[in-house]
Amino acid sequence: MSTHLTPSDRSFIKHFAILTAVLGAMAVGFAIIGTLVWENTPTYSNEGAVQRAGERIKPVAVVYAGKAGAAAAAAAAPVSSGPTPEEVAAANAAYKFDPAKGKSLYDGTCAACHQATGEGVAGAFPPLNGNPAVGDADPKTQIETILNGRHGTVIQGKTYPGAMPPFGGQFSDLQIADIANYERSSWGNHGKPVSATDVAKVRANGGK
Ligand code: HEC
Repeated sequence: MSTHLTPSDRSFIKHFAILTAVLGAMAVGFAIIGTLVWENTPTYSNEGAVQRAGERIKPVAVVYAGKAGAAAAAAAAPVSSGPTPEEVAAANAAYKFDPAKGKSLYDGTCAACHQATGEGVAGAFPPLNGNPAVGDADPKTQIETILNGRHGTVIQGKTYPGAMPPFGGQFSDLQIADIANYERSSWGNHGKPVSATDVAKVRANGGK
């Protein structure tokens, strides 16, 4: 119990109180700043932060999963839950050559070897301009080549050391018809157009 405080005691207490108040205010200030920084910084340094970041990115993750899911479903469609044979037959019957699709499929898949110009690469990949299989009114060899790949054929008197890979598992009848028709109508070729039903027939007779 101190009943008698000297002026210096009072001064000390006063200053101590002020200092405490200032430090307290600073602590509150830092706490506020800290909270703001915390709120705006998704950090993965501890569980709480992960939870916060998780909450914040959740909607984005859902949208992303949605897109990825749709893409995965689309990619899987022809294999698993794809169209029924009846639907394929109906789509094939309604087929109409789409030159833009044919070009983009050819450029994306075949041009690496046969070149965008259809000239091929001497000694490695046969030219498709003036190629007999591409010009043949019977599209069987051309379609079979695209479906199953080819190796060891004598093409216009030449043989090629490499093999053409099969594409039957990668493309639908409609897409293969578009590729075949693109070849038949490009680089000076004037082959009889093929239908998607032609592709389906070749596929059924040993294609994939
Ligand atoms: C990895 C290189 C490569 C790719 C990609 C490729 N081919 Fe070929 N292609 C070849 C080779 C090599 C041959 C020759 C095969 C042989 O020696 O029997 C060939 C042959 C052909 C022939 C000639 C068949 C014949 O008997 O005259 C056609 C038509 C053809 N390819 C079309 C295509 C189409 C259409 C695509 C794209 C869907 C394609 N190729 C993709 C390498 C390729």
